[in-house]
Amino acid sequence: MKVTFKQETEGEKGKTILEVARDNQIKMKAPCEKGKCGKCKVRVLAGELAVLNKEEKKELSKKEIADGVRLACMAEVIGDVTVEIVKKKKK
Ligand code: FES
Repeated sequence: MKVTFKQETEGEKGKTILEVARDNQIKMKAPCEKGKCGKCKVRVLAGELAVLNKEEKKELSKKEIADGVRLACMAEVIGDVTVEIVKKKKK
């Protein structure tokens, strides 16, 4: 069974999703903060973020990009947006 928690926060334009998460005490895994490890993935559910940067294009697969996945440490807020943290399934 799935249990979904949603939390609305305020985030400044130009800040990354990771910065907004930290400003609002939302815990996220983000070991490198440089777009290199791919562990801070979020999925855009509504709204949009700044265009993908070079690191995101390198780190994310075409399928992930088509699915709205972004790197929280790279993706900047440009307006109202809803994202969910992408959790890796345990094998
Ligand atoms: S924290 Fe490593 S890619 Fe974002």
